[in-house]
Parts: sequence; C-alpha cells; structure tokens
Amino acid sequence: MRVLGIETSCDETGVAVYDGRRGLLAHALYSQVKLHTEYGGVVPELASRDHVRKLLPMIHAALAEAKSRSEQLDGIAYTAGPGLLGALLVGACLARALAFAWRVPSIGIHHMEGHLLAPMLETPAPAFPFVALLVSGGHTLLVEVSGVGRYHTLGESLDDAAGEAFDKVAKLLGLPYPGGPALAKLAEQGTPGCFEFPRPMTDRPGLDFSFSGLKTAVLTARKAAPDDFQTRADLARAFEDAAVDTLLIKCERALQQTGHRRLVVAGGVGANKSLRARLKERVTQLGGEVFYPRLEFCTDNGAMIAYAGYLRLARAASSVPSAVAARWPLDSLTAP
Ligand code: KG4
Ligand code: ZN
Repeated sequence: MRVLGIETSCDETGVAVYDGRRGLLAHALYSQVKLHTEYGGVVPELASRDHVRKLLPMIHAALAEAKSRSEQLDGIAYTAGPGLLGALLVGACLARALAFAWRVPSIGIHHMEGHLLAPMLETPAPAFPFVALLVSGGHTLLVEVSGVGRYHTLGESLDDAAGEAFDKVAKLLGLPYPGGPALAKLAEQGTPGCFEFPRPMTDRPGLDFSFSGLKTAVLTARKAAPDDFQTRADLARAFEDAAVDTLLIKCERALQQTGHRRLVVAGGVGANKSLRARLKERVTQLGGEVFYPRLEFCTDNGAMIAYAGYLRLARAASSVPSAVAARWPLDSLTAP
C-alpha cells in the first residue's frame, strides 16, 4: 500500500509518500517562517493562502521524487485537526478532491497521532506499549500508547504548551519568531545557576503540567536584571533548565506509574538538544529506552501524516472524519 500524506495544520506545508514495503519514498517541507516573522507569530489567513500556493507543486514534486505515478497511490492522508481551521481546510479539500479524481480513499489524521507515531519511522522503531511525551507549540501531553488508536492521556498542560512557553519566553528576551530554537541557541551561551526558576507542579503528585507561571517568573527576573547579552543568555539557560527538568520529572513519573520502559518523545520541542540528551541519560539509568524521530520529523511534516494514514488505511480505517476540527481530543480516537 502506498499513501500520499498532506500536512497543513499551521505554518508548515508538508507532503510525503509512504510505501508499506519500501518505507518513505519522498518527503518535502516548506516553512512559512519568513512570511510570519514580521508579525511575530502565525497569521492564520496568510498561512491558508500560502498552503494554497505551495501544495499542488509540492505534491507533483514529491510524486516525481518517489518515482510514483498517481495511479500507484492507494490512498491520501491529510491532517484533519487540531490546528488552524482555514489551513486545515486547504489540505483537506485538496486531499479529498485528488482522492475523488484518482479513485482512492482519503483519510483525515489527528495531527498529534502523526507526531506520536513519527518515531516509528526510525530504526529501531519503538514497540507497543510505550509512554509518549508530546511537546509541541499547541500541546503538552503524556499519553499511554497501547497500539495505533489506543491512547490514554495521563497528563496535559493546564495552560501554556511547552513550545508556547519557549516561544513566549523567547519573545520577552527579544528573540524573533519562531522563538523555541532561538531560545535554545541563546541558552547554550548562558551560565547555569545564575537564575533559579520553579519546576511547576512537580511538588505534588500527578502528571499535569503548567508552564505559564514559569514564563511569568522569567518576566519578573528580566525586569529586575540588567539588559545585556550575557544576562539574557543566563535567563534563557535557567528557563530551559527549569522546563527540561519539569518534563524529565513527569516522564520518569509516567514510566513508573504505567510500568512501561519505553518512552517516545515527539513534537517540535522534541528537537531541543538539552531535553533529548537529559531524557536519554535519565531513562537509560532507569533501565528504559527513549525513542525520538529524526530532528526534521520532530516539527510538523508530511511524513508522519503519510505514515499514520498508511497504518490506518492498511487496517481498513473505521473512523474517517467527515470534517476538519480546530479542537479534537486525542483520547477520542479509536483503533482502526
Ligand atoms: O510540532 P511543531 O512543529 O508544531 C506544532 O504542532 O505546534 O512544534 C513547534 C514548537 C514551537 O513552539 C517551537 O518553538 C518549538 O516547537 N521548538 C523548540 C525547538 N524547536 C522547535 N522548542 C525548544 N527547543 C527547540 N530546539
Ligand atoms: Zn505539530
């Protein structure tokens, strides 16, 4: 089975072709970062229009790279939510129109399911069951995963998502959008221990997160500190250490609570080097294993959607959403 995947939930246009026997045949990504930088964040209407411009040429290019004709496709998967409604509709409409024209099934994929399954594109792939830490710009979730579509949320952020916190703190340190990677880079030049920030919600039981107080703590410290490069780097370092520590503590707790020994980390913040290194060290100490997607598949991409679509279509999908959804709980998915 060969599936074309289309991702347009936010500001990245992603297209990929996944083949059940030969693996990933092609993937292409176009980032709209430049378009949104001057506004300091994603402008939904501009994002939709850019997806319209980029999608069809990218699909042609991906099929050419995969040396695949449209007749060789067995299905088309697209991100159906959660995300920006207009941006989602662009991908969904094109996917369904092409599926109609090419007489193949189309399937709407949950964006976070795409992230969650992305580490399975790597070798070695994690076996079920595992605990997944999903850390993106819109979500922070700890999920117990027993199989495709068998998800149980263990904890989530009660306010800002981890990526959102990175982005907001980056902004208040004067860094350009998108803030997460820029903040991580600045933190590398910071001296650890110059500032001490809280590890929110780690002093009580449970697996939920809260990052908004941490952001406020950085803001307060910034106002009281001198405004020079080294201080900003020290603040960035202290924030990153606090955020990573918090994620680490909750992951360890989730592994203990479920008794699983495999941890899968996915979503944009999963590209953070400090998080990757420290989780690997800690989980290995505990006798477990951590699985990450390659860096380019941590952030939004078409490969994860093509792969999730393949897994669901190959198992004769039972739940094909008929519309896109800006909000969509991961727990509501069922196994194909
Ligand atoms: O998964 P993703 O590409 O999009 C969403 O589904 O939201 O995640 C984007 C988020 C942004 O908040 C971005 O700042 C953050 O991931 N991010 C990072 C890093 N790379 C991306 N955060 C911290 N460190 C990084 N290296
Ligand atoms: Zn994402």
